[in-house]
Amino acid sequence: MFSRTYYLINSVLFIAPLVLGASYTQSDSLTGTGFLESFSYQAIPDPTNGRVNYVDATTAAENNLTYASGNHFVLRADSGSVLNPNGPGRNSVRIQSNEQYMTSFLPMSFLRSLWVLASTFVHMPQGCGTWPAVWTVGEDWPNNGEIDVLEGVNDQGPNQATLHTSAGCTMPASRIEKGNAVLNDCNTAVNSNAGCGVKFVDTTSYGPTFNQYGGGWYALEMTDSAIKVWFWSRSDTTVPSEVSGGSTNVDTDNWGEPTAYFPSTSSGCNIASKFGPQNIVINRGDWAGNVYAASGCPSTCVDFVNNNPSAFEDAYFDFEWLKIYAA
Ligand SMILES: *[C@@H]1O[C@H](CO)[C@@H](O)[C@H](O)[C@H]1NC(C)=O
Repeated sequence: MFSRTYYLINSVLFIAPLVLGASYTQSDSLTGTGFLESFSYQAIPDPTNGRVNYVDATTAAENNLTYASGNHFVLRADSGSVLNPNGPGRNSVRIQSNEQYMTSFLPMSFLRSLWVLASTFVHMPQGCGTWPAVWTVGEDWPNNGEIDVLEGVNDQGPNQATLHTSAGCTMPASRIEKGNAVLNDCNTAVNSNAGCGVKFVDTTSYGPTFNQYGGGWYALEMTDSAIKVWFWSRSDTTVPSEVSGGSTNVDTDNWGEPTAYFPSTSSGCNIASKFGPQNIVINRGDWAGNVYAASGCPSTCVDFVNNNPSAFEDAYFDFEWLKIYAA
């Protein structure tokens, strides 16, 4: 009797979610103008103090800083103006999803979060002084976590995927992933908020090399047991067809070893308690100078951004689609 009861509870509470684990169904698919409907412009001073001025929807449209048509959603920086050194930074765009992503089937904490974000795009910003990012963030930063899926500066590839959390979240030094762990403490209060990052090995994951191969696919899976990031270049024949084709149903178990793997562990990091509902953010910023010279860029970052508008002609994202999947 007792063991039978135990088994039933066990199968409902623990076995079912494991079975559901890796299969997802598309809940949202954005292309072209869909991005404009599902994201809001954040006309805010740059929280990272870069030489950038994030504009509102009207200014972005007037200046063609965002452009949506067919399967193109372009997000770019101004490349026409020389800036007054005493004025605001270079006009650019930062948008945040109106929805927060987190799936709940049952009011149980371990099923709270289970979703996948997959995106394909053909071009990302390149050039000195550019700091593009595709990332997600919870409210009351850093208490609900931040996941940087794509981020880098000044054309310095490959990509790095990074988590930022409140204190008490560390990653195991050794784990199965294609990239290389940089730092393992995700706490924003240490290491100057470097977070726990995984540097990719694949040079096609970022900047001019990414663009040269016609872009690629990035995917993020967030469950309470792990956060995983995958990347496939458009030239990578191992990309799962369900990813390249943007299938309605995907199974992340078929996607192979993740490029970055951040597991939930009892001694290191409880992903469920460190990561709440996430908004997706896409921005094209300007790096606040400290790695600027080290990247082989001319002049100083601020002078360069002020005086070289044409250097920002390639500083744009061009997204084909972004899809959200839920289990
Ligand atoms: C706006 O940008 C798009 C994408 O780069 C381009 O195709 C279009 O010609 C631009 N429109 C204007 C008016 O410059």
